[in-house]
Amino acid sequence: MLRVDIITIFPEFFREAFDYGIIRRARAAGIVEIATHDLRRWTSDKHHVVDDRPFGGGDGMVLKPEPIFAAVEELAGASKREGFGPGTRVVLLTPQGKVFSQSLAADLSQSEQVVLICGRYEGVDERVAAALVTDEISIGDYILSGGEPAALVVADAMIRLLPGALGSETSAENESFSENLLDFPQYTRPPEFRGMRVPEVLLTGNHAEIARWRREAAMRKTRSHRPDLLKEKG
Ligand code: ADE
Repeated sequence: MLRVDIITIFPEFFREAFDYGIIRRARAAGIVEIATHDLRRWTSDKHHVVDDRPFGGGDGMVLKPEPIFAAVEELAGASKREGFGPGTRVVLLTPQGKVFSQSLAADLSQSEQVVLICGRYEGVDERVAAALVTDEISIGDYILSGGEPAALVVADAMIRLLPGALGSETSAENESFSENLLDFPQYTRPPEFRGMRVPEVLLTGNHAEIARWRREAAMRKTRSHRPDLLKEKG
């Protein structure tokens, strides 16, 4: 059983986010437990302040370290990296992180507990990254208004890889990225739609020919959309 704890100043953002499809079923089956926590719960002042102005000046506000350290201390049992159990990962979602990937999702899905800290405002006090988190993760080279959508992406990608989360144990193995290739195109009925025909080979029932067509179509799609995948060794 994987436990996912999400620390955010917008817990409502996640209200229904995990109530659909594979993630909903994984929760119902007891494969994963997800809890969302309001960072303000770990403030001690009357106004529940979680942010402050940056030392050195500049625009915007920075998330303060104290509530984040207190939250992780309570949820993961330690407030420095060295104190966590071997199955615990504490992730900060930030555009300064390592770019998320299928292999990182697979790695995280082996954990017992993943704590996801959603960054906000102009940033998070660097002492969080320096002493507390095990992984700084970005979901891509663009700026979101906060880490919440990124936490959703990371949680989804890792939960669907848990044993038993997909209908059949093997279905994650044939997907895009597990072989550094995009998926082949899929078609369903009708065989002709608005003048566009399904490739004839798919209608023949010739499995060897179909497999060859799919391999070639996946290669064409990858070469056209993601040539970078064909260059690197996966
Ligand atoms: N916060 C803002 N932008 C982000 C990104 N691209 N990935 C993760 N967290 C973020």
